[in-house]
Amino acid sequence: MVNDGPLVAIYPGSFDPVTNGHLDLIRRSAGLADRLIVAVLNNTSKQPLFSVEERTGMLREVTAGLDGVEVDSFDGLLVDYAERRGARAIVRGIRGVSDYETERQMALLNGHLRPGTETIFLMAGAEHSFLSSGMVKEVIKLGGDVSGLVPGVVWRRLQGISTSGRARAGIVRP
Ligand code: PNS
Repeated sequence: MVNDGPLVAIYPGSFDPVTNGHLDLIRRSAGLADRLIVAVLNNTSKQPLFSVEERTGMLREVTAGLDGVEVDSFDGLLVDYAERRGARAIVRGIRGVSDYETERQMALLNGHLRPGTETIFLMAGAEHSFLSSGMVKEVIKLGGDVSGLVPGVVWRRLQGISTSGRARAGIVRP
């Protein structure tokens, strides 16, 4: 792998949906890399709340003003996608010790599968360190308010789901 030239980094994830914690990480890592690709995993084995198209659409809206940031989706191994996109770094956020072990294993595995792939860990901001997409979905499902936890575009989409009663009925796909 070529280790010089512009730094292309990938910030991969499920982003179901993107939260303010993700957005903070996108902004901060965009400032570190020459180009940042926010990549949504197209995971067919999980039943997501939002389709990949909806998730990439919301990510594109919230990152529209950020220079050097691209939104994409991928299937299969992350390192294969990184190879195709000429990326040598992967960005991941760490909220606390509970994230650490999984992220450590993922970073080492990715480095093993594609030597030279570096994982850049960013500490989640203190105000976001309790936040996850899963918890946002749980709160919405139970009729709670997630304003302040997700970008406005996501909040509006979630309100639609919440008020329609679908989330409370446990029907997760809008
Ligand atoms: O937001 P998430 O769900 O924690 O993101 C996990 C993700 C998408 C980064 C991870 O599951 C992934 O990279 N999946 C792609 C398949 C892969 O490469 N697996 C081996 C390394 S874990």
